[in-house]
Order: sequence, then structure tokens, then C-alpha cells
Amino acid sequence: MDMEEWEQRHTEAFYDAKEALPYLDGMFVAYNSNIDAIRHLTEKDMIKLVGLFDEAEIQNRVAVYPREITEPVDFVARLLISMREGKAAEVPAYTEDIHKWLKEHLGFDYALMGGQAGIISNLLARLDLKKVVAYVPWLSEEQAEYFVDNGNILHPRVENGQVTLKPPAEAFKPGTGSKVNWIFEFSKDMKVTCAGSTFKVPRDNRLIISSRPKWIRLDMDREIYEQLYALFPVDGAMLSGYQMIKEEYEDGSTYKDYVERSVKVIEKLKSLNPELRIHVELTSIQNRLIRKTILTDIVARHVHSLGLDTVEVANALNVLGYEELSYSVIRKGENGIMSLYQGAVQLMKDLKLERVHVHSLGFYICILAKGHPLTLKEHRDALLFSSVLAAAQALNGKIENLTEAEAGLEVPVSAAGLEDLENFQLYCTGRKLCTPDEFEYGYIYGPDHDAILIPSKVVDRPKATVGIGDTISAGAFAAMLARMKQKQAGK
Ligand code: GLC
Repeated sequence: MDMEEWEQRHTEAFYDAKEALPYLDGMFVAYNSNIDAIRHLTEKDMIKLVGLFDEAEIQNRVAVYPREITEPVDFVARLLISMREGKAAEVPAYTEDIHKWLKEHLGFDYALMGGQAGIISNLLARLDLKKVVAYVPWLSEEQAEYFVDNGNILHPRVENGQVTLKPPAEAFKPGTGSKVNWIFEFSKDMKVTCAGSTFKVPRDNRLIISSRPKWIRLDMDREIYEQLYALFPVDGAMLSGYQMIKEEYEDGSTYKDYVERSVKVIEKLKSLNPELRIHVELTSIQNRLIRKTILTDIVARHVHSLGLDTVEVANALNVLGYEELSYSVIRKGENGIMSLYQGAVQLMKDLKLERVHVHSLGFYICILAKGHPLTLKEHRDALLFSSVLAAAQALNGKIENLTEAEAGLEVPVSAAGLEDLENFQLYCTGRKLCTPDEFEYGYIYGPDHDAILIPSKVVDRPKATVGIGDTISAGAFAAMLARMKQKQAGK
């Protein structure tokens, strides 16, 4: 595969998408937004942290693999696991104590807009979409300040039973508390020692300790649900945050109630615009029952598009009953590209999706159901556009506008990603899944699906990693929808 060619394709795709984006009427984005307290960890921090505990106790906890942070040693254990494998994870904490402990023992460097829906809303606003309708059920006054003030982000507000769209700063719910998550970023090559053994962190990534205050409900206000038409026109919806759903609540309600209501919202959105495309952005979901239910009851049959990373593909396959495939995606880590491809195809089929977009370090895979209105080149260009955005985000830690996003064009295409794709090419051509020629373009015309594989731009020393996945998924989904609208307009 030719590196130069991929650089050129990135550049063309970026400017084409820039031209197409104004064709969009708008995007609806819900549900999760929070404040991310970001802390970059150093080797010294790690020595201090490990020193606070009995190392045998840490090791025991690593073996237990806590799926919830109830005491500080759970945190250190999950941090070591993430660092050792270089894998992102998000683990919930339901008490205030952990928050206090982290504040006292580590503190944070800076705070940013967090939560997939928060990050996606801000990104789309900065890409100059005409309208981004954000909806956060727990929009506090403080949280509202984290939305960009470009004039194109609106949030529904209920006034005398009437729903209107207002800037977030005029739409918050007085008296609502803020949800603050801790983001622990770590860098490639950091050395960490615990219980006599030392390892080197294989890649930049982060561990998220997600605060789950008791009052958090993944739900939509009755009036807003009833007057959902007030949010239109929008061409697409990007939904996330379902990981917040709990099995049981103190008032006797269960996850089933919240799943049912979530599906009703999706159905209503589609009924208001039958052309509307819906994307769900997945994340790390510790509770296996909730993970499975989100996939089989919310995503399957109801939405069109799914965005996720390698670990999330493995975790999804695991709860859907494909344990072996799941292990081979994980075992081979970022190189398990063959299993990753098969896994993504399986997700598309089982969940009845139109599109599955997997972002991996160095390449993206997008599996497409047959019959999509865009050509494979158009899909490929949407992915390339998002690769430029991701590079700009990693480089500067933020994207202020489309002009600043051009900085991403200077970031080189990942050589490791290209190599992974070259290995995959052998596999594909060997199985007659595609011809070498098609593969050079990044296309696979499968028997029951099509696929795009592109090498992506990767920043060697990213400013931070949190939110990059959301940037990729949102950039590609918006560019795809924009191209669909542009085509409808005969351009
Ligand atoms: C999850 C986390 C949030 C983070 C986001 C980044 O939503 O809860 O803290 O900002 O992921 O993707």
C-alpha cells in the first residue's frame, strides 16, 4: 500500500467533507455529558501510588478484577491492568469517598467537557453544523458552561409546558448536581513497578473512573419526549450514555424500564423523520447484563450505525456468545485485525446494523450492509475526514474550528497501521474476499456486506487520548450524512 497515496486521499477527503457539511440541517446528540477532571500520570506518581498500599494486596485485587471502584485499592488495581495492557477502560464509582481520596492523593491537571454526547456536541458545533441539538437529562448550570459558545448548540428547555430550543446556558435545570469523572492518562514507555515486577506501558491510553451519583437517570423528560418534533429538522442522531443504566434502582424500577423508554425515544425520532440515521457510540460497560441488553434490546434492529474500539468489539462479542472470537480479538491486541474484521461483520449481522465503524490505533474498519446509498469511495472519504480530525485532536488536545483541524493533515499516516492492513490484504486475497486492486483503494466487496479499511493518522505523542474515539465516530458519521444530503441536492 502506498503511503503517499493515502496522504493525498486524506487531504482530498478533508476538503470534500468541508464542502459537504453545510448541507446538513442538524444533528441530535444525547445523553451523557459530564466534567472530565484530567490527570496525566508520571512514573513518580506511580511509585507514590503503589507505595500507599501493601503490594500483595494490590496483586490480589488485580486478580479479582474489580468492576466497580469501592475502595482506593480497586482503583490502583484497575489502573495497573490498564497500564500493563495499554487499554482504555471505564470503571464506575458510586460513592463520594473515592472522589475525595483521589482529590487528596492525586488531584487533577485541568477540566474539560466530558461524556460522549458532550464531546460530540462540541465537536460538531466546531465543525460549523447549522444546528446541534444536545440533550443531557442532568444538565447543571456548571455543566452548561462546558458547551462551546458558537451559537449553534441548542438544548431543549421546558417552559410552561412548551418545549423550545435555547443555548445550554439558558436551558440548565437549576438545582442539578454535576457529574465529574476522573481521567487518568498514561503514556507509552512509562515504567511501572509493583510487587517486584516491572513493565513498560505499551501505548498511550487512559483509565476513567466514572462517577455515578444516585440521581443520574438515563431518561428523557416527559414534555420533551412528547414534543420531540420541536428539535427538528435534524438529519441524524448520535446517542450514547446507556452504560449509565443500572440493573435496579431504589424506587423499585429496573433497567427494563429505562431500556424500554430509550427505545421509545429512538422510535419516535425515526417516525418524525423516516430518513433519519441513528448512531450509537459504545464505551466500556463493566456490567455484562447491561452490556448485553444495550446491544440486543437498544442497538439491535433500532439503530443504523455503531461506533466502537477494539476492546469494545471483543467485549460485545463476548456477551453475544462469541467467546472464542472475542478472545482472539483481545489476545492479538491491536494486531488481531483478521478477528477484528470477522467480529465487526458478526456485530453488523447480529445487531442488524447498516454500518459498524471500528477505530483501532493506526487503522479503521467500517463494515457496511449492502444497499447503502453512498459508494464505497464516499464512505472511505468520510472515514479519512475523521482520521484528520482525530490527528488534530491528539496533536493539540482540542479542535477549535475546521481551519485548526487542518493541522491534522500534517500528521503522517501510521506506518504500523499500514503494515497491519498489508497483513490483512494477504488474508483477504487468499480467501478471495477481495482483489489486491480493490484493497489498494481500501474497499472490500463481500458476499453479504461491504467494508472499508483505511490506515489512519496517528500522533506519536498525543496531548491526551480521551475523546479521540468520539471525535472519529462523530466526524465520520457527520461527513457521511453530509455527503448523503449533498447527493440528494444533486451535487
Ligand atoms: C465516557 C466517559 C467520559 C469521557 C468519554 C470519552 O463517556 O464517561 O468521562 O469523557 O467517555 O469518550
